[in-house]
Amino acid sequence: MSLRLGDIAPNFQAKTTAGDIDFYEYLGSGWGVLFSHPADYTPVCTTELGKTALLQQEFAKRNVKVLAVSVDPLDKHVGWVKDINETQNCKVDFPIIADEDRKVANLYGMIHPNSSENFTVRSLFVIGPDKKVKLTITYPASTGRNFVEVLRVIDSLQLTANYSVATPADWKGGEDVIVVPAVSTEDAIKKFPKGVKVVKPYLRYTPQPNVE
Ligand code: BEZ
Repeated sequence: MSLRLGDIAPNFQAKTTAGDIDFYEYLGSGWGVLFSHPADYTPVCTTELGKTALLQQEFAKRNVKVLAVSVDPLDKHVGWVKDINETQNCKVDFPIIADEDRKVANLYGMIHPNSSENFTVRSLFVIGPDKKVKLTITYPASTGRNFVEVLRVIDSLQLTANYSVATPADWKGGEDVIVVPAVSTEDAIKKFPKGVKVVKPYLRYTPQPNVE
């Protein structure tokens, strides 16, 4: 059975380009992104890891640790990272797991045998400080993921966790957010001093609470 939203993300120990790690220790009390790619020395994967490296500060600002995984061996990861850095003008600083025995891939359901027997698909999990799965996405090997969208979802998740707000379709940072249904309009007016716009009793907007 694959992992679903709200499930506990399983812990594991693994060999990575940054040494041996315990996943929970690596995450500490912050957020995490664990994502798989099909194989080293492939073009789409090269751009994905490069983009993630270029966004490293954005992940760090949000207290998110990133961890990549494929079933390739460590020496292959190490050689490929040099190519990623060279071709994508970046510095890959996050660990890449060498999951040769597929321990992590199997724990997280990253191998979809009807797509490929041998390689992980493009799975991505966002994990909260409570170690619960907050987002899962799965892309085919031929489509690179949008890591700016992953950051957007993390922004939304962190707003919900900290301020009891949700985000509307196509929301971008700085735009108005939605008061969650669990908060009454009376309480919302007290809770959100920037104001509450009531469009319908169930559709209430407020300016994003954590921006000036
Ligand atoms: C790629 O990363 O380019 C790729 C990997 C596996 C299959 C197809 C494309």
